[in-house]
Amino acid sequence: MPIATRVLQPGDAAVTERAEFAREVLEGLSAKPKHLPCKWFYDARGSELIESIMDLDEYYLTRCEAEIFEEHAAELLRALGKKPFELVDLGAGDGRKTGILIRRFQDLGARFGFFSIDISESASAKLATELSRSFPALHGETLVADYATGLASLAERSRERKLVLFLGSNIGNASFEGARAFLRELWLSLDDGDLVLVGADLKKDVTTLRAAYDDPRGVTAAFNLNLLSRMNRELGGDFDLERFRFYCTWEPRTSAIESYLISQAEQRVTLDAVGRAFDFEAQEAIHTESSRKYSLGELDELALAAGFVREGLFRDRRGWFADALWRVEKTKRRAPTREEPARARR
Ligand code: AVJ
Repeated sequence: MPIATRVLQPGDAAVTERAEFAREVLEGLSAKPKHLPCKWFYDARGSELIESIMDLDEYYLTRCEAEIFEEHAAELLRALGKKPFELVDLGAGDGRKTGILIRRFQDLGARFGFFSIDISESASAKLATELSRSFPALHGETLVADYATGLASLAERSRERKLVLFLGSNIGNASFEGARAFLRELWLSLDDGDLVLVGADLKKDVTTLRAAYDDPRGVTAAFNLNLLSRMNRELGGDFDLERFRFYCTWEPRTSAIESYLISQAEQRVTLDAVGRAFDFEAQEAIHTESSRKYSLGELDELALAAGFVREGLFRDRRGWFADALWRVEKTKRRAPTREEPARARR
């Protein structure tokens, strides 16, 4: 197999993951207002449902980004220069989006290795199989590790320039400050000259935005409600899925689609593995996800705040989605930042 899986850290060792799930559920359902981290959407069923969401007519994001890769891969390659490089995918999922980029890069004669970094061993193994089948000439590894560990290992093993991918508007699940902190960590793990490509959904009319997240077939509702099924199965819960309803809305103050599960009645839910019961008032909501939308100005601000240099910006024909290309520059003397007082004083 041209793409192998390498375990750098014990990943979804079911036990640790279950314990963390229980901890975060306890914290989120004890809080006021109640909330749950959206990363827990993605069990086997949730991963299936997000694939279905990406196929919905209303969910334009995936097709916009595919169009960007089809149309702008050559320009992207020019920014990378002639030397061989390494494509590093963070949050690859099933690799569908990255597959389009790989196909275009191969057609254009680029020389590159492929690496993904994901804490889930099962997802990493699946991705290796998929990519090996679709791209027999592609070489690389799917690494089982957290991002920092995976990037450190890659930096140790090769001197080649990296293009790090964070696609699909995954950055939108974080607040601006959360995104800045994440990207700053990423910057610290990279070398001078490395590049990152960040996919962000752009602000547009509210009707289009809402339709993408409130589809008439109810796939997005099922995706949210699956979180309750997961808690029932993995944490010994007794959520009655009939008594919660999915609701989402555009919130101008956060520039995000905000998603919720709303309790339809006063009720008590018990989670054995958490060792607690949780009371819901009628119409009380659990916040499940923020999907933040950016303006081009805010994307620039984010690059700057995280310490990157802007290198390019690619958009689909309608201007609905953007992939921003940012470069790491570490040689230039620059103003000291809070994170690196020692380095700046050098
Ligand atoms: C995969 C996080 C980018 O926020 O648009 C799709 C997830 N949620 N429909 C997004 C999602 C509801 C999606 N991301």
